[in-house]
Amino acid sequence: MKKISYISAVLLVLSMVFSFNPTLASAKVEGPSLNPNKILNVAHRGASGHAPEHTVPAYELGEAMKGDYIEIDLQMTKDGVLIAMHDEKVDRTTDGTGFVKDMTLAEIKQLDAGTWFNEAYPDRAKAEYAGLTVPTLEEVFEEFGRGARYYIETKAPNVYPGMEEELVRVLEKYKMTGPNAPSSKVLIQSFSPDSLLKMHALDPRIPLVQLISYSSPAVITDAEVEAIKEYAIGIGASYTRIDQAYVEKVRGHGLLMHPYTVNNREDMERLLDWGVTGMFTNFPDILNDVMKNR
Ligand code: G3P
Ligand code: CA
Repeated sequence: MKKISYISAVLLVLSMVFSFNPTLASAKVEGPSLNPNKILNVAHRGASGHAPEHTVPAYELGEAMKGDYIEIDLQMTKDGVLIAMHDEKVDRTTDGTGFVKDMTLAEIKQLDAGTWFNEAYPDRAKAEYAGLTVPTLEEVFEEFGRGARYYIETKAPNVYPGMEEELVRVLEKYKMTGPNAPSSKVLIQSFSPDSLLKMHALDPRIPLVQLISYSSPAVITDAEVEAIKEYAIGIGASYTRIDQAYVEKVRGHGLLMHPYTVNNREDMERLLDWGVTGMFTNFPDILNDVMKNR
């Protein structure tokens, strides 16, 4: 989709939602805000440059390499379980084939989520990656607990009716939201404004980040930033599309700016110079090193 039409679509969705739901029209972010002076190191799909994405070892490495957040993409199984997977199909990151929406959790659990990585990256292969399973969101929370921070994306929410309700249920079960949960434990992100608005309506305390996909150099108007600010605390966009003016515009409105997915030192340095407040990276170790030396 072209940049202009994407932004128009965002505004259209916002105007439709606001016009149909008067309570949202005046809705504001109610949760505690994040400190913009703390640059967030987000381990993208875990430390996915070092281990198979969205597996426990990738998340463990993300923490060990000083990632502030574990990034988790969500899909939902045929029987309604939220799992950590980037693609709608299992083909790329497992030894199976087909759509997650057509498979039960029991079927997903039969799949090997690590061997593909060993084959694709023999220099980083490890015997223990073979046979890894796809984790559910609940298993990730069980494993890493409330001591970790999670940056969770609702992927393909149009494919999974009820995904947001299930996400809120799991967040509440593990006490990741609510008065005793620092909001910074969980950030929710999506390319879908509709999905974020649903999350905002379900629990306005949960901090949200609007992802935007640009197919050409990114431009955003003051009105567009302000519309997003009604429900989100930040914007995420590809680092290859944004420039300093974009970052300054977003920051000027008091929103966080988190580019994705930044894997080399020079790009990290440039983005930090522009004033971003964090970034997604497959190599949290490199970003940590860059930030230590500034
Ligand atoms: O969530 C930020 C970034 O991860 C968006 O791109 O495709 O890697 O989910 P993707
Ligand atoms: Ca993502």
